[in-house]
Amino acid sequence: SRKAHFNAAHRLYNNVWTDARNAEIFGKCANPNFHGHNYELDVKVIGSINEDTGYVIDTKDLSDLIKMHILEKFDHKNLNLDVEEFKDLNPTVENIAMVIYMILRPLLEEQYELKIKLYETPRNFVEFPY
Ligand code: NI
Repeated sequence: SRKAHFNAAHRLYNNVWTDARNAEIFGKCANPNFHGHNYELDVKVIGSINEDTGYVIDTKDLSDLIKMHILEKFDHKNLNLDVEEFKDLNPTVENIAMVIYMILRPLLEEQYELKIKLYETPRNFVEFPY
């Protein structure tokens, strides 16, 4: 597993609903001017140990993948406005974890299993797939 950290702003909002309905469902999370979180990310790669290296995966390679494809895209960004994937997808911690999985899955060899754990706060986190 490799841990990473990013901070990002978002707003939870369903654009089909009225402002009143959004406020009712999402509370402060629907505030029009956005708010931020310090996200803690755990990327777990499951596989068998390579006989030559003794590694399942080189954590330097995993770290580089996370930096290049996740942190570059999400860190210090407004998820709703800056990240294409959330143009029409509510940036809940569930959906962010799923998007991270979708980005990383094709970048890893098929032999590996991938699990994402994403903390939005120290007490709220999501695992994808679960
Ligand atoms: Ni939030």
